[in-house]
Amino acid sequence: MREITQADYLRFLSAHDHVTIGNAKIKLQGHWKIKEYGPPEEYEPERTTVWSFPDRGRWATHRGNYRGNWSPYIPRNLILKFTEEGDTVLDQMMGSGTTLVESKLLNRNAIGVDINPEAAMLTRDRLNFSGFDKAEIKTFEGDARTLDKIEEESIDLIATHPPYGNIITYTKSREINGDLSRLPFKEYLIGMKRVAEESFRVLKKGKHCAILMGDGRKYKHYVPIAYPVMKIFLDAGFILKEDIIKIQWNMKTTREKWQSKNYDFYLIGHEHIFIFRKPESDNEYRKYKFSRPELWL
Ligand SMILES: C[S@@+](CC[C@H](N)C(=O)[O-])C[C@H]1O[C@@H](n2cnc3c(N)ncnc32)[C@H](O)[C@@H]1O
Repeated sequence: MREITQADYLRFLSAHDHVTIGNAKIKLQGHWKIKEYGPPEEYEPERTTVWSFPDRGRWATHRGNYRGNWSPYIPRNLILKFTEEGDTVLDQMMGSGTTLVESKLLNRNAIGVDINPEAAMLTRDRLNFSGFDKAEIKTFEGDARTLDKIEEESIDLIATHPPYGNIITYTKSREINGDLSRLPFKEYLIGMKRVAEESFRVLKKGKHCAILMGDGRKYKHYVPIAYPVMKIFLDAGFILKEDIIKIQWNMKTTREKWQSKNYDFYLIGHEHIFIFRKPESDNEYRKYKFSRPELWL
């Protein structure tokens, strides 16, 4: 891991007015003036295991123009439910920094990591607004499989959205070694095993780790990615707290258009947010055997 500091970002900004992520050029703003600091007033935190955010969320510096970014409603819900002010949130695949921006707005310390140094610059740009100075936010270029600068049992919440393994490539124009989205499925799963083990190592006992995962389709048949990854996290020692279905809105075509077309398969319109918990002890791990059906056989 290599820290990308505010000074590194300012140096980068003096020579660049954009970052290139895949094929997309994303403008760097410099310093942001913010109009809205959170979701519309009438919004209430989620209470069920089905989440749907058709308006996706554009408050603060969220712009939704990083391929595969998650809606800020997701980290906001997770941070509010599972942390207190002053806690530390980790997103080890931070992309454009949605989780870190929400952490800053909600006075949580945060650590962000991404394999792509340009993502770290973009995140620092999105964090470059004043008025919220309580949180300490650190950003790193690094690999989620080896979080060597993060101490064990130092994190209060992990909230991250990994790539789905050969479905969307984030670093098309420039090969980035270690980008999980470029790996064939088997290597991807091996990589996710290391991500799960590192997540388990850095998380404090009793605390939560949330990941957003989707599935794929090949030869017109469903390719489950989310459940194999869930199993990998359970094997790493986590217990399952929630399996939330997240409705997908931000697709190339709208859901209405899908319905008018004549496919002989259903278009995938959901993802899973798995919320795992690191058990307090071996005893507690055994108590939650019911979330591991294979252990009953
Ligand atoms: C789905 S995107 C995350 C988007 C982010 N939640 C946001 O809202 O912008 C997945 C990210 O994982 C990063 N990534 C891929 N392999 C990685 C690895 N081995 N370690 C750390 N980051 C990685 C990609 O560069 C990409 O930014």
